[in-house]
Amino acid sequence: MYLLMMALLAWAIWRARRRLPDVAPLTEAPAADDLLCKLLNSWSALIMIGLFVLAGGSFLVDRQLARAEDPHALRVRITGSEWWWQVEYLDPDPSKQLVTANELHLPVGRATRVELRSNDVIHSFWVPSLNGKTDLIPGRSNYQTITPRRTGQWRGQCAEFCGLEHARMAMDVTVEDAAAFERWKAAQLAPARTPATAVEQQGQHVFLTSTCASCHTIAGTDAGGKVGPDLTHMASRRTLAASTLPTEPQALAQWIRDPHARKPGTNMPATDLPADQLTALVTYLMSLR
Ligand code: CUA
Repeated sequence: MYLLMMALLAWAIWRARRRLPDVAPLTEAPAADDLLCKLLNSWSALIMIGLFVLAGGSFLVDRQLARAEDPHALRVRITGSEWWWQVEYLDPDPSKQLVTANELHLPVGRATRVELRSNDVIHSFWVPSLNGKTDLIPGRSNYQTITPRRTGQWRGQCAEFCGLEHARMAMDVTVEDAAAFERWKAAQLAPARTPATAVEQQGQHVFLTSTCASCHTIAGTDAGGKVGPDLTHMASRRTLAASTLPTEPQALAQWIRDPHARKPGTNMPATDLPADQLTALVTYLMSLR
């Protein structure tokens, strides 16, 4: 199309030049025509410059986008479920791969390529301070690259209505410097803390013998459920139940006893335990830093 337009333009100029002797010289044109001519020429020049600036800008932005997808970017996979987020840090070395839930740690100034998936319905990943919204769609992967520019803590929120607890499908996002991020990652990669006291041991026993273990994983134990969040380092997170509750013993006990009171519709069943077993379980879970 461009070549055709240029060819037509060249032809028009060539024709006009050929006819030039027939028409009156430009200097004798009326003043109004002269002014119009100047205006039109300026306007054309303006459009030409504008187009060149836009083309140049587009070229530079393209290059920047391509650079943002560098192969050294951190790779994270976020999978949405009703109503929580599974967060996996991918690594070619399987021993450096880690799984957590409802929290995202990002190193400042480094690109992170986030793969977004869904287990059930359409969710949308949105951390208003860091990125735009991208949907998590069952059966496909969407991608987003985030390069955080300053450290801090932000709230991420599901931004696509996904059922009863859509509003309580939030995420705790921490942007930290590289050293702090590596420390966090190393701590998350460590196996779960072994129970140190009799109460913690009792708590672990309760966890492994009640319904907990069929839905949750605690690395290094027999609990390997995949339905709910990985709890290997549960107590290191600031919140429970996708940013619904603070990570503290009382809230955790309430959550285990009656999750539907705090999050109606949640797939976590109520677990009716004798008081001493509940206390032991909470003590054990709160030790999983
Ligand atoms: Cu998930 Cu709204």
